[in-house]
Amino acid sequence: MTLPQDAPAHAVKTVIVPAAGMGTRFLPATKTVPKELLPVVDTPGIELIAEEAAHLGATRLAVITAPKKQEVLEHFKRFPELEATLESRGKTEQLEKVRRANQLIQPVSVVQEEPLGLGHAVSLAESVLDDDEDVVAIMLPDDLVLPMGVVEKMVEVREQLGGSVLCAVEVPEDEVYNYGVFEIEDADYDGPYTVKKVKGMVEKPSVEDAPSNFVATGRYLLDRKIFDALRRITPGAGGELQLTDAIDLLIDEGHPVHILVHDGKRHDLGNPGGYIPAVVDFGLSHPVYGKHLKRALRQILEEHGA
Ligand code: G1P
Repeated sequence: MTLPQDAPAHAVKTVIVPAAGMGTRFLPATKTVPKELLPVVDTPGIELIAEEAAHLGATRLAVITAPKKQEVLEHFKRFPELEATLESRGKTEQLEKVRRANQLIQPVSVVQEEPLGLGHAVSLAESVLDDDEDVVAIMLPDDLVLPMGVVEKMVEVREQLGGSVLCAVEVPEDEVYNYGVFEIEDADYDGPYTVKKVKGMVEKPSVEDAPSNFVATGRYLLDRKIFDALRRITPGAGGELQLTDAIDLLIDEGHPVHILVHDGKRHDLGNPGGYIPAVVDFGLSHPVYGKHLKRALRQILEEHGA
């Protein structure tokens, strides 16, 4: 695949998708099924990410997996026998569903041999980039950021302010310890979005030490300089190489980093407590299942006295 002729030179070609985690919060399902293949209604989370990346205009999905999680890549391959069977039975709708992942974007496998952290996982993707790529996007498949298209907005912000742009949301103060947290100030920005300048970033601070309640939510638009910074960090929170620490290092060295404060919805597919509402949300909007699900939910809520 190639970029469209009229794509600007700074367009995002590669979206990096770290998908090497063990999915411990989803056991026992994740004993044999990678977390990224669990369905949101009928579509694996990783396919929703591929759709978002294709929507952004990216042509390459660098999927970082553990050696034993190659099924994630399998999902993007053709399945000729199944396609032939569906075709011979006239099941065109299902046939399209089977082919869809393969048609969205070109997946590239990057294997992380050991779980050394998100920063380490991202650093491995440098090997698949072309020389002319000066910017990459990272989409964490645990995070669904809706409506689709937030990275497009971040691209616009980068066009005006340069540097790197991250997506942020505000969370209750007592929840900051789960996230990368931003120290922020007003930005010199003139445009339609809520944008702040980042003075520093800290991974999973205690509630007392958190510099704000603006946190990173799984969408990053990073200058290629990030790979150099990733080579220079040491293990941080949880003893892992943290992407947050590399971003903080870039800020220290004068690289401009801004956040776009997301004003839409977000789901956390990384644990059952966030995954279930995501499925309900997508289910309620589904043309086939929505109506019945609404009725069923009302009944369930009643039974639970809610
Ligand atoms: C990762 C990042 C963290 C970010 C979060 C968003 O943490 O390290 O900075 O806020 O994703 O979901 P994880 O959820 O993988 O522990």
